[in-house]
Amino acid sequence: MQSAPIPVHVAIVMDGNGRWATQHGKGRLAGHDAGMKAMKEIVKRSDQLGVKYLTVYAFSTENWKRSAEEVSGIFNLVVKYVNSELEEIYQNNVIVNVLGDYTALPARSVKALDKALARTQTNTGMHFNIALNYGSRAEILTAAKKLAAAAAEGTLGKPLEEVTTEDFSGLLLTAGMPDPDLVIRTSGEKRLSNYLLWQSAYSEFVFTDVLWPDFSPEEYERCIEEYQARSRRFGGR
Ligand code: IPE
Ligand code: IPE
Ligand code: MG
Repeated sequence: MQSAPIPVHVAIVMDGNGRWATQHGKGRLAGHDAGMKAMKEIVKRSDQLGVKYLTVYAFSTENWKRSAEEVSGIFNLVVKYVNSELEEIYQNNVIVNVLGDYTALPARSVKALDKALARTQTNTGMHFNIALNYGSRAEILTAAKKLAAAAAEGTLGKPLEEVTTEDFSGLLLTAGMPDPDLVIRTSGEKRLSNYLLWQSAYSEFVFTDVLWPDFSPEEYERCIEEYQARSRRFGGR
Protein backbone atom coordinates (compact mmCIF):
# COMPACT_ATOMS: atom_id res chain seq x y z
CA MET A 1 0.00 0.00 0.00
CA GLN A 2 2.81 2.43 0.82
CA SER A 3 5.00 1.96 -2.27
CA ALA A 4 2.60 2.73 -5.16
CA PRO A 5 1.07 6.19 -5.20
CA ILE A 6 -2.31 6.88 -3.66
CA PRO A 7 -4.77 8.13 -6.30
CA VAL A 8 -5.02 11.91 -6.24
CA HIS A 9 -8.69 11.87 -7.22
CA VAL A 10 -11.08 9.03 -6.36
CA ALA A 11 -14.63 9.09 -7.74
CA ILE A 12 -17.23 6.70 -6.38
CA VAL A 13 -20.64 5.53 -7.62
CA MET A 14 -22.25 4.70 -4.29
CA ASP A 15 -24.67 2.04 -5.50
CA GLY A 16 -26.67 -0.72 -3.84
CA ASN A 17 -28.51 1.03 -1.00
CA GLY A 18 -31.88 -0.30 -2.14
CA ARG A 19 -30.69 -3.90 -2.44
CA TRP A 20 -29.02 -3.65 0.96
CA ALA A 21 -32.34 -2.53 2.45
CA THR A 22 -34.18 -5.41 0.81
CA GLN A 23 -31.56 -7.87 2.10
CA HIS A 24 -32.14 -6.55 5.60
CA GLY A 25 -35.93 -6.50 5.33
CA LYS A 26 -35.97 -2.70 5.58
CA GLY A 27 -37.37 0.16 3.49
CA ARG A 28 -35.25 1.86 0.82
CA LEU A 29 -34.67 4.93 2.96
CA ALA A 30 -33.07 2.81 5.66
CA GLY A 31 -30.67 1.74 2.92
CA HIS A 32 -29.88 5.34 2.03
CA ASP A 33 -29.37 6.17 5.69
CA ALA A 34 -26.92 3.26 6.03
CA GLY A 35 -25.27 4.52 2.85
CA MET A 36 -24.69 7.94 4.42
CA LYS A 37 -22.96 6.25 7.35
CA ALA A 38 -20.69 4.37 4.97
CA MET A 39 -19.94 7.60 3.12
CA LYS A 40 -18.94 9.33 6.34
CA GLU A 41 -16.29 6.65 7.00
CA ILE A 42 -15.00 6.78 3.42
CA VAL A 43 -14.58 10.56 3.62
CA LYS A 44 -12.51 10.11 6.77
CA ARG A 45 -10.40 7.29 5.39
CA SER A 46 -9.78 9.17 2.12
CA ASP A 47 -8.42 12.09 4.09
CA GLN A 48 -6.23 9.82 6.23
CA LEU A 49 -4.85 8.08 3.12
CA GLY A 50 -3.92 11.39 1.52
CA VAL A 51 -6.50 11.39 -1.29
CA LYS A 52 -6.74 15.02 -2.44
CA TYR A 53 -10.11 14.86 -4.21
CA LEU A 54 -13.00 12.57 -3.35
CA THR A 55 -16.09 12.78 -5.56
CA VAL A 56 -19.20 10.81 -4.68
CA TYR A 57 -22.29 10.25 -6.79
CA ALA A 58 -25.17 10.91 -4.41
CA PHE A 59 -28.07 11.68 -6.78
CA SER A 60 -28.20 11.64 -10.56
CA THR A 61 -30.34 13.74 -12.91
CA GLU A 62 -32.07 10.42 -13.70
CA ASN A 63 -32.84 9.61 -10.06
CA TRP A 64 -35.82 12.00 -10.19
CA LYS A 65 -37.63 9.06 -11.84
CA ARG A 66 -37.92 7.41 -8.42
CA SER A 67 -40.91 7.82 -6.13
CA ALA A 68 -41.42 11.27 -4.59
CA GLU A 69 -41.09 9.62 -1.19
CA GLU A 70 -37.67 8.16 -1.94
CA VAL A 71 -36.43 11.36 -3.60
CA SER A 72 -37.46 13.63 -0.73
CA GLY A 73 -36.17 11.06 1.74
CA ILE A 74 -32.73 11.15 0.14
CA PHE A 75 -32.71 14.96 0.25
CA ASN A 76 -33.74 14.92 3.93
CA LEU A 77 -30.81 12.62 4.61
CA VAL A 78 -28.51 15.14 2.95
CA VAL A 79 -29.70 17.77 5.41
CA LYS A 80 -29.33 15.35 8.32
CA TYR A 81 -25.82 14.35 7.28
CA VAL A 82 -24.64 17.90 6.63
CA ASN A 83 -25.99 19.08 9.98
CA SER A 84 -24.44 16.25 11.98
CA GLU A 85 -21.07 16.11 10.18
CA LEU A 86 -20.30 19.64 9.05
CA GLU A 87 -18.35 20.68 12.12
CA GLU A 88 -16.09 17.62 11.99
CA ILE A 89 -15.61 18.03 8.24
CA TYR A 90 -14.68 21.65 8.83
CA GLN A 91 -12.24 20.76 11.62
CA ASN A 92 -10.61 18.21 9.30
CA ASN A 93 -9.86 21.05 6.87
CA VAL A 94 -12.06 19.45 4.16
CA ILE A 95 -13.47 21.66 1.38
CA VAL A 96 -17.03 20.72 0.41
CA ASN A 97 -18.19 21.30 -3.14
CA VAL A 98 -21.39 20.28 -4.95
CA LEU A 99 -21.35 19.14 -8.57
CA GLY A 100 -24.78 19.63 -10.10
CA ASP A 101 -27.65 22.07 -9.83
CA TYR A 102 -28.55 21.57 -6.18
CA THR A 103 -30.80 24.66 -6.24
CA ALA A 104 -33.46 22.32 -7.70
CA LEU A 105 -33.56 20.54 -4.32
CA PRO A 106 -36.03 21.48 -1.56
CA ALA A 107 -35.21 24.78 0.19
CA ARG A 108 -34.08 23.09 3.39
CA SER A 109 -31.50 21.00 1.52
CA VAL A 110 -30.29 24.01 -0.46
CA LYS A 111 -29.81 25.91 2.80
CA ALA A 112 -27.88 23.07 4.43
CA LEU A 113 -25.63 22.72 1.40
CA ASP A 114 -25.05 26.47 1.13
CA LYS A 115 -23.99 26.40 4.76
CA ALA A 116 -21.56 23.54 4.13
CA LEU A 117 -20.03 25.30 1.12
CA ALA A 118 -19.69 28.62 2.93
CA ARG A 119 -18.29 27.07 6.11
CA THR A 120 -15.57 25.08 4.37
CA GLN A 121 -14.57 27.28 1.44
CA THR A 122 -11.52 28.72 3.21
CA ASN A 123 -10.26 25.26 4.20
CA THR A 124 -7.16 23.99 2.44
CA GLY A 125 -7.30 20.19 2.79
CA MET A 126 -9.11 17.45 0.91
CA HIS A 127 -11.75 18.40 -1.64
CA PHE A 128 -15.00 16.52 -1.03
CA ASN A 129 -17.27 16.81 -4.07
CA ILE A 130 -20.85 15.69 -3.76
CA ALA A 131 -22.44 15.00 -7.16
CA LEU A 132 -26.06 15.91 -6.51
CA ASN A 133 -28.61 16.26 -9.30
CA TYR A 134 -25.57 15.56 -11.42
CA GLY A 135 -25.56 14.25 -14.97
CA SER A 136 -22.52 14.19 -17.18
CA ARG A 137 -24.30 14.72 -20.50
CA ALA A 138 -26.06 17.82 -19.18
CA GLU A 139 -22.71 19.04 -17.81
CA ILE A 140 -21.00 18.58 -21.20
CA LEU A 141 -23.91 20.17 -23.08
CA THR A 142 -23.85 23.20 -20.77
CA ALA A 143 -20.13 23.57 -21.39
CA ALA A 144 -20.65 23.35 -25.17
CA LYS A 145 -23.35 26.03 -24.97
CA LYS A 146 -21.04 28.30 -22.95
CA LEU A 147 -18.34 27.83 -25.55
CA ALA A 148 -20.76 28.56 -28.39
CA ALA A 149 -22.05 31.69 -26.63
CA ALA A 150 -18.54 32.97 -25.99
CA ALA A 151 -17.63 32.34 -29.63
CA ALA A 152 -20.74 34.21 -30.81
CA GLU A 153 -20.04 37.14 -28.48
CA GLY A 154 -16.37 37.24 -29.43
CA THR A 155 -15.24 36.79 -25.81
CA LEU A 156 -13.35 33.50 -26.25
CA GLY A 157 -9.98 35.21 -26.10
CA LYS A 158 -8.67 33.01 -28.93
CA PRO A 159 -9.85 31.72 -32.30
CA LEU A 160 -12.39 28.88 -31.97
CA GLU A 161 -9.99 26.57 -33.86
CA GLU A 162 -7.45 26.94 -31.05
CA VAL A 163 -9.77 25.88 -28.21
CA THR A 164 -8.18 22.86 -26.51
CA THR A 165 -9.55 19.92 -24.54
CA GLU A 166 -7.97 21.57 -21.48
CA ASP A 167 -9.99 24.73 -22.19
CA PHE A 168 -13.13 22.60 -22.44
CA SER A 169 -12.34 20.85 -19.14
CA GLY A 170 -12.28 24.31 -17.62
CA LEU A 171 -15.94 24.79 -18.55
CA LEU A 172 -17.10 21.67 -16.71
CA LEU A 173 -18.28 21.48 -13.10
CA THR A 174 -14.91 19.94 -12.23
CA ALA A 175 -12.99 22.97 -13.56
CA GLY A 176 -9.58 23.24 -11.96
CA MET A 177 -9.64 19.69 -10.61
CA PRO A 178 -7.51 16.81 -11.84
CA ASP A 179 -9.40 14.01 -13.63
CA PRO A 180 -10.25 11.01 -11.44
CA ASP A 181 -7.44 8.46 -11.29
CA LEU A 182 -9.76 5.81 -9.91
CA VAL A 183 -13.49 5.30 -10.34
CA ILE A 184 -15.07 2.79 -7.97
CA ARG A 185 -18.58 1.40 -8.39
CA THR A 186 -20.15 -0.80 -5.74
CA SER A 187 -23.01 -3.33 -5.93
CA GLY A 188 -21.76 -5.28 -8.93
CA GLU A 189 -23.11 -2.92 -11.62
CA LYS A 190 -20.58 -2.26 -14.34
CA ARG A 191 -21.63 1.00 -15.93
CA LEU A 192 -21.08 4.73 -15.47
CA SER A 193 -24.74 5.81 -15.34
CA ASN A 194 -23.95 9.29 -16.66
CA TYR A 195 -21.09 9.93 -14.21
CA LEU A 196 -17.99 11.95 -15.16
CA LEU A 197 -18.01 10.78 -18.79
CA TRP A 198 -15.49 13.36 -19.99
CA GLN A 199 -13.33 13.26 -16.88
CA SER A 200 -12.96 9.46 -16.73
CA ALA A 201 -11.39 9.14 -20.19
CA TYR A 202 -8.23 7.61 -18.65
CA SER A 203 -9.47 6.59 -15.22
CA GLU A 204 -8.93 3.11 -13.83
CA PHE A 205 -12.20 1.35 -12.95
CA VAL A 206 -12.63 -0.91 -9.98
CA PHE A 207 -15.94 -2.73 -9.55
CA THR A 208 -16.86 -4.46 -6.34
CA ASP A 209 -19.90 -6.59 -5.55
CA VAL A 210 -20.13 -5.10 -2.06
CA LEU A 211 -23.32 -3.06 -1.60
CA TRP A 212 -22.59 0.55 -0.71
CA PRO A 213 -23.78 0.44 2.94
CA ASP A 214 -21.37 -2.48 3.48
CA PHE A 215 -18.46 -0.69 1.77
CA SER A 216 -15.94 -0.46 4.61
CA PRO A 217 -12.68 1.48 4.78
CA GLU A 218 -10.94 -1.93 4.47
CA GLU A 219 -12.78 -2.72 1.22
CA TYR A 220 -11.90 0.79 0.06
CA GLU A 221 -8.21 0.13 0.67
CA ARG A 222 -8.52 -3.14 -1.23
CA CYS A 223 -9.93 -1.20 -4.21
CA ILE A 224 -7.04 1.25 -3.99
CA GLU A 225 -4.59 -1.67 -3.93
CA GLU A 226 -6.23 -3.04 -7.08
CA TYR A 227 -5.74 0.39 -8.65
CA GLN A 228 -2.12 0.49 -7.54
CA ALA A 229 -1.43 -2.82 -9.29
CA ARG A 230 -2.63 -1.42 -12.63
CA SER A 231 -0.31 -0.14 -15.32
CA ARG A 232 -1.49 3.20 -16.70
CA ARG A 233 -0.20 4.13 -20.13
CA PHE A 234 -2.37 7.07 -21.26
CA GLY A 235 -1.96 5.96 -24.86
CA GLY A 236 1.83 5.74 -24.60
CA ARG A 237 3.72 2.48 -24.32
C1 IPE B 1 -27.59 4.21 -4.76
O1 IPE B 1 -28.34 3.14 -4.31
C2 IPE B 1 -28.08 5.52 -4.21
C3 IPE B 1 -28.80 6.36 -5.18
C4 IPE B 1 -28.92 6.11 -6.46
C5 IPE B 1 -29.42 7.57 -4.66
P1 IPE B 1 -29.64 2.64 -5.07
O2 IPE B 1 -30.82 3.29 -4.44
O3 IPE B 1 -29.50 2.85 -6.53
O4 IPE B 1 -29.62 1.10 -4.71
P2 IPE B 1 -30.06 -0.09 -5.65
O5 IPE B 1 -29.30 0.02 -6.91
O6 IPE B 1 -31.55 0.07 -5.86
O7 IPE B 1 -29.72 -1.31 -4.86
C1 IPE C 1 -26.13 5.79 -10.12
O1 IPE C 1 -26.84 4.74 -9.56
C2 IPE C 1 -26.43 7.06 -9.38
C3 IPE C 1 -25.99 7.12 -7.99
C4 IPE C 1 -25.31 6.21 -7.35
C5 IPE C 1 -26.33 8.34 -7.30
P1 IPE C 1 -28.26 4.25 -10.14
O2 IPE C 1 -28.68 3.12 -9.28
O3 IPE C 1 -29.16 5.41 -10.25
O4 IPE C 1 -27.86 3.79 -11.61
P2 IPE C 1 -28.56 2.73 -12.56
O5 IPE C 1 -30.00 3.10 -12.64
O6 IPE C 1 -28.36 1.38 -11.94
O7 IPE C 1 -27.82 2.86 -13.85
MG1 MG D 1 -28.74 1.67 -8.00
